[in-house]
Amino acid sequence: TVVDVADDDYQLGGYPDFMQKEMHEQPEAMRSALRGRLDERFSTAHLGGLGLDPRQLRSIQRVKFLGCGSAYYAGQVGANLVEEFARIPADAEPASEFRYRNPVVDPNTLYVAISQSGETIDTLATVQELKRKGGQVIGAVNVVGSAIARECGSGIFLHAGPEVSVASTKAVTNMTVSFAMLALLLGRVRDLSVAHGKRIVEGLASLPDHLTSILDAQQDVADAARKYTDAQRMFFIGRVRGWPIAREGAQKLKEISYVHAEAYQASELKHGPLALIDPTMPSVVLVPDDELLSKNIGTMEQIKARGGPVIAVTNAEIPDGLADTVIRVPHSEPELDPILFTIPLQLFGYHLAAALGRDIDKPRNLAKSVTVE
Ligand code: AGP
Repeated sequence: TVVDVADDDYQLGGYPDFMQKEMHEQPEAMRSALRGRLDERFSTAHLGGLGLDPRQLRSIQRVKFLGCGSAYYAGQVGANLVEEFARIPADAEPASEFRYRNPVVDPNTLYVAISQSGETIDTLATVQELKRKGGQVIGAVNVVGSAIARECGSGIFLHAGPEVSVASTKAVTNMTVSFAMLALLLGRVRDLSVAHGKRIVEGLASLPDHLTSILDAQQDVADAARKYTDAQRMFFIGRVRGWPIAREGAQKLKEISYVHAEAYQASELKHGPLALIDPTMPSVVLVPDDELLSKNIGTMEQIKARGGPVIAVTNAEIPDGLADTVIRVPHSEPELDPILFTIPLQLFGYHLAAALGRDIDKPRNLAKSVTVE
């Protein structure tokens, strides 16, 4: 979408910048993505744009998500969900790498090209390469009529509405919720039970209200972020479902605040990065209330024992005194936690950058979409 800068004040509608506006649009944007796609009767999802009948959906043996930057991280969330719900192998890879490494293209794999703008050159080239090799590729694209949407011909439109801020928020959120529906659909033509499907359908339907409650508590996240304006570097730590969210959180902070942020798997800390922990290195730790809670509590203890400040992002009860700062997230279905945990991290990056006086919508060195080599 081309936006006339002179129109900015009008288009901002009272928000200080587009990122803040677009974060606030997320509940409504997500309702648009879910509208008409949740099937309560059969506990599944309808994604008519895929153009695939149940038999074709069942013949898919693997799913590969491809995109750049935040779209790639959203793809990693999608891959985890496909494996959880459909029990078929799935992974994600940066399109910018895939296109240059002479990939093996498998006819039984569903390739998902992910892009907000639909114009990212690396993702477009990936789609063209896949098609040339006979791969089955669908788009997960926000901008209707964009190059990637046209090249794919079928897929899932994200329905996030126009996104202006360089830091992508509502489009990324709609990518993850769309992949939850894709995973549900793939699961329900296989062995995902009606009861499990029902729990996920209900969980998805309640997400927009949860987004609203996170945004309503924005001041708490702003207060938390302002405590860390002296930090030169930060860790974002997640495990399994939380790992792509840690990457997305670090990405947001890097982009708009210019603070060095590194995402790490909680499980990998002891294999090297723990050496970096000291009182000047805060760690944002994702602590969902799931079957790995005790492992994540252990991670916070390890960081604390080395003098590292801990910012826990959690919907669980965690021991007093373990985290220096706690950012609360509402309870949802555990499989859907990654979708919700993304939002406080957007807010955290936003408020840290704002406190540092950064130009949020126009971060240095970056363009909204990378359309040239
Ligand atoms: C997101 O905050 C970034 N600005 C960036 O990583 C972005 O997601 C990436 O360039 C892909 O853009 P696209 O979704 O328009 O293809």
